[in-house]
Amino acid sequence: MAVTELTRLKYEDIKPKIGSRILNSKEELMSGELTDEINELLERRGVLVFKKINFTDEEQVKFSNMLGGNATEIGVDGGAVFSISLDRNEHSKEVIEYLKGSLFWHVDGTMNPVPIRGSLLSSKVLPTWGGNTEFSNCYAAYDDLPQDTRDTIDNLKVIHSMWVSQLYHCPEPTLAQLEDWQSKGEIVLPLVWKHQTGRKSLVLGNTAQQVVGMDLRESARTLHGLREFATSEPYHYSHEWEVGDSVMWDNTGTLHRAMPYDPDCGRLLRRTILLGDEPFA
Ligand code: OGA
Ligand code: MN
Repeated sequence: MAVTELTRLKYEDIKPKIGSRILNSKEELMSGELTDEINELLERRGVLVFKKINFTDEEQVKFSNMLGGNATEIGVDGGAVFSISLDRNEHSKEVIEYLKGSLFWHVDGTMNPVPIRGSLLSSKVLPTWGGNTEFSNCYAAYDDLPQDTRDTIDNLKVIHSMWVSQLYHCPEPTLAQLEDWQSKGEIVLPLVWKHQTGRKSLVLGNTAQQVVGMDLRESARTLHGLREFATSEPYHYSHEWEVGDSVMWDNTGTLHRAMPYDPDCGRLLRRTILLGDEPFA
């Protein structure tokens, strides 16, 4: 009698409130049998680490497609796999400047009503110093806020803009530079995302400009205070890269950032992105 053995997802949690390490082999992951379980775990844990999985570009695209579609980031002409690198041989000056925005806590694609669902980064060249990628779980942080804070913030709206995020790493732009950033527009998003699953998460990061209708100083205290809390130890995971590692995050319920590194060191991550399917709400 033939015995059919189902491949199951094997993993261990990294910290109680964020991150799981996937233990299956590449062959098991590429079989397609684990797709639903991986997507479910991603949403629940925020970050999945595939230690030394050594995906080729082709495998990374195939794996991303299996999980629900690999997209090209809007506004960045990267093709199916995009190089995260500050190397002048990889990208134009404009793209390098834009990528420097990732040195501060952010959500990818807040300027789009339907943000990307997640991303998968694979390490190809290590930085000489620094360059960890850090994540924080904004579902878990929201859940742990005191009830009165949740009641106060639940229906607040926040203006997000690209130009504000660029000021973090370029605080004294030329007027022309500022005008170019501002031409990318602004968008009003809920501070608390009420997901279709019924779960809620905080929408924060360097594009968050001001709480609508709130005094500027109180707004800054609200946004920075929540960001400080959401990125504090219990909700925070810092990934120290080894070549061949891949890390995937749920962009709809986490913040992430790159830690500073030598911009000339050739650090290279290859990125695929999972198509978004849920508008901010
Ligand atoms: C990204 C990103 C962080 C890093 O790919 O969206 O923010 O560590 N990357 O390079
Ligand atoms: Mn990013």
